[in-house]
Amino acid sequence: MVNKEEILPDRDFALELLRRLKVPLSVRRHSEKVADKAIEIANKVKKAKLDVNLIEIGALLHDIGRSKTHGFNHALIGGKLLRQRGFSDKLARICETHILGGLDKQDAKKVGLPEKDYLPITLEEKIICLADKHMAGTREVSIQARFNRWFQKYGRSKILLKSKKRIEHIQKEIEELM
Ligand SMILES: [Fe+2]
Repeated sequence: MVNKEEILPDRDFALELLRRLKVPLSVRRHSEKVADKAIEIANKVKKAKLDVNLIEIGALLHDIGRSKTHGFNHALIGGKLLRQRGFSDKLARICETHILGGLDKQDAKKVGLPEKDYLPITLEEKIICLADKHMAGTREVSIQARFNRWFQKYGRSKILLKSKKRIEHIQKEIEELM
């Protein structure tokens, strides 16, 4: 019997699911780019064993919650949509931990999410979170450029500054495994 923890859809199923849930085309294109970037990063990692299949499918589905909302809550809704379908908890967690550099309890409260940590912990979660920050829509950008844009738009808020630090930390951790 397949362990429920391990149930992953394949690429075609994931893309079809996004279409069926009416995830906007721009989000689907973004998600494919995030998947390409995440796999590119994963392939450079030599000092750790990664589940590249989980990384690909997780990246494709990380924004599935945008079928319902573009607010911060799309992360939690995405996790719920995947769990409801019986998919791996690992996949659901990728949705829940991809926002900014992950959100800690205080950040979550501030943006109106249930007061809980939503921080990427596994390497797969971290790589998708990082790849997502590198893709502004379908355009690849540096982490610095991505945050500069957000600083211009929202100001140098505490939550953004904290997120930037977290992502830089994740980036360093991944690079040290290359
Ligand atoms: Fe997202």
